[in-house]
Amino acid sequence: MSRELKIEAARAALSLVKDNMKLGIGTGSTADEFVRLLAQEIENGLKITGVPTSIKTKKLCDELGVPLKTLDEMPQLDLVIDGADEVDSDFQLIKGGGGALLREKIVAHASKAMAVIADESKLVKTLGAFPLPIEVNSFGLTATYNAISSITSQLGLSGDIVLRGGEVSPFETDGGHFILDAHFDHISDAITLSKALLEVPGVVEHGLFLGYAKVVFLASPNGVKQMGSL
Ligand code: 5RP
Repeated sequence: MSRELKIEAARAALSLVKDNMKLGIGTGSTADEFVRLLAQEIENGLKITGVPTSIKTKKLCDELGVPLKTLDEMPQLDLVIDGADEVDSDFQLIKGGGGALLREKIVAHASKAMAVIADESKLVKTLGAFPLPIEVNSFGLTATYNAISSITSQLGLSGDIVLRGGEVSPFETDGGHFILDAHFDHISDAITLSKALLEVPGVVEHGLFLGYAKVVFLASPNGVKQMGSL
């Protein structure tokens, strides 16, 4: 998606941000645009306190002067604004393309509402064309991989499940975990899959965000479409 569309989606979401809000701040290239616009508003007098969803987002916020606290200092948030890799018409999401899904989900869970910023290409009929990130503990990786393969094939899902970064230098999340990207292509029952994955002890979290998003801002060359509301 073009940078302009990311900026337009981010700008639309900025209208939800009010003085004194406790704000979760997402991760990814669209969330970065949101941080840049937010920083400008803060310079113009807006007062918010943010909780970043990744080390990367924290760094950008620090550079641009966005005031932050940790989630421990501010455990209940009014709103989180974040990007997504896929969104369906029920506002079910796949997230974690940037590897921040665990902190993103902890922050979303601690927030009264979640707003998603994306371009129209992220809107899908059925989740799954984007590989589902599954964050796993590095201990017992093969056993966890086998358990995920077995449980998902019992659900009728097939496709490669790939260690992000490869075996020689796997990608490590902010929490020091690994990510398995599951190329299921077509996830017809995200709720059942979510429950099944969380039954595998080595699974820390997965990138299905179900029941979190209240509003979605989708940017296209024709403008920004708002779906849902707070
Ligand atoms: C990071 C995420 C991102 O929000 C998601 O990958 C979308 O990123 P982008 O805005 O760069 O397309 O979930 O873990």
